[in-house]
Amino acid sequence: MPKLTVDGIGDFDVSEGQRLVLALEQDAGVDQLHACGGNARCTTCRVEFVAGEPDRMTVAERDVLAARGLSGVRLSCQIACDHDMTIRVISRLEGSGRKDAGHQPAAEIEPPPQWIAKS
Ligand code: FES
Repeated sequence: MPKLTVDGIGDFDVSEGQRLVLALEQDAGVDQLHACGGNARCTTCRVEFVAGEPDRMTVAERDVLAARGLSGVRLSCQIACDHDMTIRVISRLEGSGRKDAGHQPAAEIEPPPQWIAKS
């Protein structure tokens, strides 16, 4: 069972393969934003990795990060918890001015993932 460490919050055992965005919300109790519902469109599910950053990413994640000119962050909706990770939460509902965290992401990564090496 992979361990998810959320900087400043705690350590959590998460289900193998769980979407990181859901592990943050459901296991760690973080008010993580996911405005587009986990579809690799909004980037509000972004997190910073302290350790265990995955060395693969989905094409959808690569494309939206590039389109927004973002670096140094990863999209929690595009990551599966398949190993131990330590992350820093940087995009929460609290303080965002939004009325809610966004549509509930599905259990599986969407769009259907095409995996590539992290660029
Ligand atoms: S990009 Fe919108 S929830 Fe991940």
